[in-house]
Amino acid sequence: MKVTSSDLSLDKVAAEAVAIPVLESSSKDRVEQLASFKKLPEFKLEDFSGKLYETFQIPATESTPLILLVGVGKKEDFDSRIARNVAGTAVRRALKSKVKTLVYDASLYENSALIIEGVGLGEFDPGIYKTGKDKAGKLEELIIVGKIGVREIKEALDVVETVNWARRLINEPANLLTPTHIVNEAKKIARDYKLDIEVINEKDAVRRGMGAFAGIARGSHEPSFLVALKYSAGKNYPTLGVVGKGITFDSGGLSIKPSEKMHEMKMDMAGAAAVIGFLKLVAILKPKVNVVGVTPLTENLPGGGALKPGDVVRALNGKTIEVLNTDAEGRVVLSDALVYAQKLGATKIVDVATLVGATISALGSEASAILGNDQDFVDQVVKAGDEAGERLWQLPIYSEHKDLLKSDIADMANIPPTRGAGVIAGAVFLQEFIANKNPWAHLDICGTAWTETEKPYLAKGPTGVGIRTLLALLKSF
Ligand code: BES
Ligand code: ZN
Ligand code: ZN
Repeated sequence: MKVTSSDLSLDKVAAEAVAIPVLESSSKDRVEQLASFKKLPEFKLEDFSGKLYETFQIPATESTPLILLVGVGKKEDFDSRIARNVAGTAVRRALKSKVKTLVYDASLYENSALIIEGVGLGEFDPGIYKTGKDKAGKLEELIIVGKIGVREIKEALDVVETVNWARRLINEPANLLTPTHIVNEAKKIARDYKLDIEVINEKDAVRRGMGAFAGIARGSHEPSFLVALKYSAGKNYPTLGVVGKGITFDSGGLSIKPSEKMHEMKMDMAGAAAVIGFLKLVAILKPKVNVVGVTPLTENLPGGGALKPGDVVRALNGKTIEVLNTDAEGRVVLSDALVYAQKLGATKIVDVATLVGATISALGSEASAILGNDQDFVDQVVKAGDEAGERLWQLPIYSEHKDLLKSDIADMANIPPTRGAGVIAGAVFLQEFIANKNPWAHLDICGTAWTETEKPYLAKGPTGVGIRTLLALLKSF
């Protein structure tokens, strides 16, 4: 998609369609908002009230393009998340009318980059294996009527391209997207964007003492890898560690999942996709912060070598784990990854993972859960999420919760003996692998990584959540 900006008035820019975000207000105000358009065809504005994500089309005439009104809702609610989603709504409606060039009125926007992000994310089409003709089209050109510089355009396009790259990976079925495929993608990114990369195979992992990761990997015939991508700003800068869960398919292992929704578990690598995508953006932006991204990549299958409930493994920091439930595999593979990120110098750590399904019961799909060991750092990440339009809602870790994972024979069990506090128990487990009180935040994206219903601004399927939060965090470092 080509993006340009223009300071002409809306009716002077040549395009097939013009999108105008319109506030919810009286119809008189709405007519005034449309005043820049001189020769409008007949239409009944009463049919459109400007409610959030409502759309209304005024058909093209010989002298005017298709005019697409998009409801913005109340002015006081218009934050960056809604600003982005309104643009997504506009492009999805425009594409249904086969529009290829779209003019966008940025007059309500303080930050026009949000238009590019919203449009780019709204365009994503998951149906890549459909052989029929009903594939959604793509916009060829977006012309923003408003202020935006060439550098901002480029950065917004880089973000969109990266988030959609992550969504493509998450969308891929597990027979086509194996750990090896993700490694190849990571290698390509490392080569193209000059990042250091370290690929640790299963044998190396065992030799180095990553017994937790290697234990889960043994259940699958597919080769498994732990990948570290490194961006270096220099010795004198702090190091941010980002760690992403990369289970390319989670059958549950021997603690096998019910078949009903098992197919959804191809998305259990959404955290890894976010981390790898983020590192690519880091390489483009070249911040004055060192960044290491670590992703354990494996399937969780019940093959002959699979961990059995009750097995004990030893993680890279020497701690022993009794694996009572092989479906709580995310925390097991992340333990080694968290320790490794700190070995690589990370002193502040964020992990991103589809860890515990109970997050969906608690928060649905409108917020990810965040838990951590340092309130200032958690606050910083929550703020980054708000800026990115990716809401985070904190759950507590009380000192009493630390007893949740007692094991009779090892340092910890991987699940609690009783029901409840599942999301917290996941975080309590991960915290065992954070050293020296390093500030750490855990993002559980179970409910946000995948949308089960189509939204006006987003297709059904992978959302690419996480990348933009990490980016906003990086900028606040
Ligand atoms: N990958 C799942 C969590 C998940 C559920 C992701 C739904 C996306 C959508 C994770 O590995 C898992 O199975 N967790 C268990 C933990 C339990 C055994 C403590 C769960 O949520 O039931
Ligand atoms: Zn699982
Ligand atoms: Zn899982």
